Amino acid sequence: MGSSPEQRTGKEPGSQAGVPRHIAIIMDGNGRWAQMRGLPRVEGHRRGVEALRRTVDAASALGVNYLTVYSFSIENWRRPATEVSDLMGLIKFFVRRDLAELHRHGVRIRVVGSPDDVPPDVAALLSEAQETTRTNRGLNLVIAFNYGARQEIVQAARRIAEAVAAGTMRPEDVTEAAFARRLDTADIPDPDLVIRTSGELRLSNFLLWQSAYAEFVFTPVLWPDFSRGDLEAAVEAYRQRERRYGGLSMRAETPA
Ligand code: IPE
Ligand code: IPE
Ligand code: MG
Repeated sequence: MGSSPEQRTGKEPGSQAGVPRHIAIIMDGNGRWAQMRGLPRVEGHRRGVEALRRTVDAASALGVNYLTVYSFSIENWRRPATEVSDLMGLIKFFVRRDLAELHRHGVRIRVVGSPDDVPPDVAALLSEAQETTRTNRGLNLVIAFNYGARQEIVQAARRIAEAVAAGTMRPEDVTEAAFARRLDTADIPDPDLVIRTSGELRLSNFLLWQSAYAEFVFTPVLWPDFSRGDLEAAVEAYRQRERRYGGLSMRAETPA
């Protein structure tokens, strides 16, 4: 969000990190997991849904407040129609099968991303999941679906331009906070830790604004194999980091 780094995380610059309040995951490597086993890619995506289920439980157990998962990017429409349709089928499968249990565990589901081109049945299920769990107080599970960070930023800029053109906002009102309020993630704190599986070292258009001061953990583990232990290891790596936010290291020697 657009608040100062201290407000964002409740941490002073230079302090050591505790358990991350918000973990965001780029769940990558389903296709390779399947290919390595001579299986169709969809089998990797199926196993990826199981990994997601495990990770939601593990994140809840760790006391994480927000878990954001990148489940379909706007750029993923470039894949063959059959794979896109498999992925749409699996998001429906996940919501249909797991909604009741997630709800019972107090999980609040949020969806970020563009509504454009989302098939109506998928859109309906996602809104049902959000509506059903709206007042829950447990883990916030944020599903980035049909999401693209640049598109989200452009949309925020457009909303601001419209408000300024309409005279309801002045140019000097365009602050970091005002901008952040117009993103899909408006009332969600910035991620403290971003994890990407499968060994790829890139963001692929994920949470570009929100990750300005996130810590990153990249692991070679393919998403279908991602375990509770892998999540704990990422959190442990995070805990060893010193977040400075441009300030000075508390560990640095100060001259006498
Ligand atoms: C991640 O796995 C799932 C989505 C992008 C939807 P991939 O399908 O990208 O798997 P790889 O990268 O081809 O192995
Ligand atoms: C990022 O993975 C998107 C999701 C995990 C949903 P991709 O597999 O689509 O990313 P690239 O194409 O390798 O950058
Ligand atoms: Mg991939």
